[in-house]
Amino acid sequence: MRDTQPRAIYLKDYRKPAFLVDSVSLCFELFEDGARVTAIQHLYRNPEAEQERDLVLDGEELQLEGVLLDGQPLNADHYDVDSTSLRVKAVPDRFELTVTTWIRPQENTRLEGLYKSSGMFCTQCEAEGFRRITYYLDRPDVMAPFSTRIEADRKRYPVLLSNGNEVERGDLDGGRHFVTWEDPFPKPCYLFALVAGDLVEQTDSFRTQSGRDVSLRMYVEPRNSHKTEHALDSLKRAMRWDEEVYGREYDLDIFMIVAVDDFNMGAMENKGLNIFNSSCVLANPETTTDLAFQRIESIVAHEYFHNWSGNRVTCRDWFQLSLKEGFTVFRDACFSADMGSPTVKRIEDVNMIRTAQFAEDAGPMAHPVRPDSYMEISNFYTVTVYEKGAEVVRMIHTLMGPEGFRKGSDLYFSRHDGQAVTTDDFVKAMEDANGRDLGQFRRWYEQAGTPVLTIEDHYDRDAGTYTLTIRQSCPPTPGQTEKAPFHIPFALGLLDDLGRDLPLKLSADEADAPTSRVLELTEPEHRFVFHGVPRRPVPSLLRHFSAPVRVQYPWTREQLMFLMSHDSDGFNRWDAGQRLAVDVIRALMDGSDDAVDERLVEAYRRLLTDADLDQALVSLMLALPTEAYLIELSDAAAPDRIHEARDRVLTQLATSLRDELLACYRRNTGGAAFSLEPEAVARRALRNTALNWLLYIDDEMARDIALNQYEAASNMTDRAGALRAIVNSGFVAERERLLRHFHERWHNDPQMVEQWFSVQSGSVRCGSLEHVRGLLGHASFDWKNPNKIRSVIGVFANQNLARFHAEDGSGYRFLAEQIIGLDPHNPQIAARLAGPLTRWRKYDARFASQMRQALESIMQQGSLSRDLYEVVHKSLKD
Ligand code: TRP
Ligand code: ZN
Repeated sequence: MRDTQPRAIYLKDYRKPAFLVDSVSLCFELFEDGARVTAIQHLYRNPEAEQERDLVLDGEELQLEGVLLDGQPLNADHYDVDSTSLRVKAVPDRFELTVTTWIRPQENTRLEGLYKSSGMFCTQCEAEGFRRITYYLDRPDVMAPFSTRIEADRKRYPVLLSNGNEVERGDLDGGRHFVTWEDPFPKPCYLFALVAGDLVEQTDSFRTQSGRDVSLRMYVEPRNSHKTEHALDSLKRAMRWDEEVYGREYDLDIFMIVAVDDFNMGAMENKGLNIFNSSCVLANPETTTDLAFQRIESIVAHEYFHNWSGNRVTCRDWFQLSLKEGFTVFRDACFSADMGSPTVKRIEDVNMIRTAQFAEDAGPMAHPVRPDSYMEISNFYTVTVYEKGAEVVRMIHTLMGPEGFRKGSDLYFSRHDGQAVTTDDFVKAMEDANGRDLGQFRRWYEQAGTPVLTIEDHYDRDAGTYTLTIRQSCPPTPGQTEKAPFHIPFALGLLDDLGRDLPLKLSADEADAPTSRVLELTEPEHRFVFHGVPRRPVPSLLRHFSAPVRVQYPWTREQLMFLMSHDSDGFNRWDAGQRLAVDVIRALMDGSDDAVDERLVEAYRRLLTDADLDQALVSLMLALPTEAYLIELSDAAAPDRIHEARDRVLTQLATSLRDELLACYRRNTGGAAFSLEPEAVARRALRNTALNWLLYIDDEMARDIALNQYEAASNMTDRAGALRAIVNSGFVAERERLLRHFHERWHNDPQMVEQWFSVQSGSVRCGSLEHVRGLLGHASFDWKNPNKIRSVIGVFANQNLARFHAEDGSGYRFLAEQIIGLDPHNPQIAARLAGPLTRWRKYDARFASQMRQALESIMQQGSLSRDLYEVVHKSLKD
């Protein structure tokens, strides 16, 4: 146990800052054994806040070298320093404070604040990293213009970057130089950034809609200079899109992107100087898969979009995190939909929500989109805040319509430009611009848990009416036992017996009724009567996943197959296929079916053979529900039985459809040169799915095809696809040969090594616990690099579920052991890795008790970080 329990922080305790900052000027002197930071702040008492005598600044692990007030050195009885703050006693109303601190970036393994990554200095300040650089009011509602001077050795660090515009540079004695940057836009310190290193610059430019030229600059290590084009192109597309769709123009003359190898998350939207995890920005067909290309495009866009949704309008406090993250995820999702296939993008996102977010919402860390308390804010960068938050914004978009939503976002940006605001201010802008009341809708921000819609229908032949009864409920979550009804936009259609959409007449005499409608659910129960329905229709419910809810309706397998081939909503076609597969797998598990339903095989045969279907959609429809999703749907989940049942279905499908799979492979192979056009991407996805299935049943012809594809591949999608198929097969000699070859060829490329690790640790056949342990000892593994940790340990615990959930508990003990070892070095990553264990209550007793024991073994450690403590404590509570 730790000696002092971390304290929870509550939204209800929010107080305005007692002091505000007029301007900050920072000077960084970078050395090989540390860095000296001199911060000059102009502070004043906030007239709108409760008056306080002393100024209290946040600061952690800083060595204080001196404090001056209005230029005069302060003696020790005028201030107090402890491990988290600097208190300057009895300050005047307005003053200049100069603080000098010494910090050790070289020893910073937490990757928060200023640290070193492969020879360069870089920063990560969100959420509370700036307090590890200097003493400051480290809270997002304190905004100031920053000026930053960086001094460093000229040879080692020729490139010196910070936010804003470069205003001065020059040489210093001893082979050193300096550059000064000024950011005219007041910002919270979490958006501060600094980079110093030996980097190459790739430039491009963008002319804004008002005719200003913006210089775009990407900085990477010299060995990555061939991997910048895709990010720069994505950036330009994002800049154009934000002008067209939101009327938002970029506001500085320079926009910079930097790639760093060691990074806790994906990327960071620092004003004018976005910093990326290398794996989320560097791309090249030879080494980057199609999936990674798309991910990079969306992350580059996401960070760029933050310039308005996050930077120009920022968060008042960290409880409002979804204000920027939910909105920005929604924006990047719409951008990706516009750049490619909206249906494919929607399916990918919903898959993620229904698997990861629904699981979070049903577990001990469940929290509302706007949480009301936290111990460590880093733990709240969650799928709930990001993805569910984006769903909430999407529902507002659905309720207001595209034009109403744009009016709302225009009002939001103009009303709050330069301010630090709340999710409530966002909703208010939407209300005011549209004259609508979103009072009940606000519950989406306040109540955790996934609502359940239970739907019954009744067809009256004589009256020609079809009645839907929809009830909503929401299970209890930690600290919230009773839930009030949500305001839910529920999109639906009704299919006639030929699969055509029927007009949805809500009264007998409604003329020109639409064939798809959004019903608004606000009560615990609603009854909708549709008129003029000649025969019993098949309902297409919650089209395009119009709300983040579970739908319970007693579909028959016939109805699902019918929807799979006829629904005009592509998303619901996919969804019907998923529900059918889930139903078949679960019937095998509970013994109600003793063989795989032939109708599933026939449905998949149709998918594989009908070349007229949208091939991108087909490739998604072929993917069986994942084990993670099947676990999420279970009450007392038994991962071994889930694995076995899913395995039976997959084996049956691959065996029965062998010829169709081979034909599908051939149909989608050869021809045009590499391109990232959606059609080419779909062809690669389909041929790799076909290979995967065939190798799953150890088909020898497919093995030869895969080996050939591996060797001949012109791109990483094909090469990694073939490698993955072989690694997942029983062809052990080939697996070892390809893995050896892949490593030999790419061991100098970190992104390739990460793929190499994850293809092994995620594979049930290759990734035994011994093998995964072996990977941790491999020369290419690096405990200081979060990507490596994620690609071995994270992938094992989140994707290799049959192995992780070994009945003897060995997988759990392994994970606990790694978490305990990592926590003192990188608590953010340690806490994140613990996620899979926290859901122990969801599992069958055989597993649950051992998962719990693993958590207890973590809790018994001497001193846990606040990050890890919060996660483990909450999941063991009660
Ligand atoms: N704000 C970033 C984004 O979503 C993510 C982020 C938050 C982050 N905290 C971080 C990134 C810590 C790296 C490290 O765009
Ligand atoms: Zn973000």
